[in-house]
Amino acid sequence: MIRETIVITQGHNGVHIAPIGLIEEEGGFVIAPFHPSQTLDNLRENPYAVANYTDDVRVFAGCLTGRRDWPTRPAAKIRGAVLEQTLAHAELAVTAVTEDAVRPRFRCKIVHEETHRPFRGFNRAQAAVVEAAILVSRLHMLPPEKIEREIAYLEIAIDKTAGPREREAWDWLMDRVIAYRADAPEEPQA
Ligand SMILES: Cc1cc2nc3c(=O)[nH]c(=O)nc-3n(C[C@H](O)[C@H](O)[C@H](O)COP(=O)(O)O)c2cc1C
Repeated sequence: MIRETIVITQGHNGVHIAPIGLIEEEGGFVIAPFHPSQTLDNLRENPYAVANYTDDVRVFAGCLTGRRDWPTRPAAKIRGAVLEQTLAHAELAVTAVTEDAVRPRFRCKIVHEETHRPFRGFNRAQAAVVEAAILVSRLHMLPPEKIEREIAYLEIAIDKTAGPREREAWDWLMDRVIAYRADAPEEPQA
């Protein structure tokens, strides 16, 4: 089971906010950051993290489109920071590291949890933004037809169910896709 969360780590450069899929394990989570990344550097420097459970999908889309400056406040029990608008959060301490050339794995235990706001149910547009954010993080690895097909499908949920936050997040991601299309080499003519 993987939970898509906003992970905040802290190093000498300050706090770093990144969407990360946490792998659920008994009693905690595994964080598997790619080489190289700020999340990886920070976890080595300060082996703590905050998993933020948020339905504000602008943070997911924002981090992928250069908008990383989201308000935070200090965590309760660890050296770390909590996203202001999160529904709930867990404060994590690294207990073991498995080295890997591509994706080291940081096993974490939960040292503290807090709930701030109620979960008000699923929203298809939020799920669509998370899927589109993953797509945008992999644009260079995917065939153009797959990108177009998936965006066309995800857009149905945006058109039918988005509120203003989901629409704004979607527009940031689509700006990135439009810029990528403009840069991509021309398709050869049939
Ligand atoms: C929903 C979602 C889940 C992600 N999960 C991971 C992950 O598990 N590990 C990872 O390294 N990057 C993941 N990414 C990509 C990172 O958010 C992005 O590459 C990030 O900038 C990591 O690099 P950084 O720590 O230097 O910011 C995910 C992105 C999205 C949208």
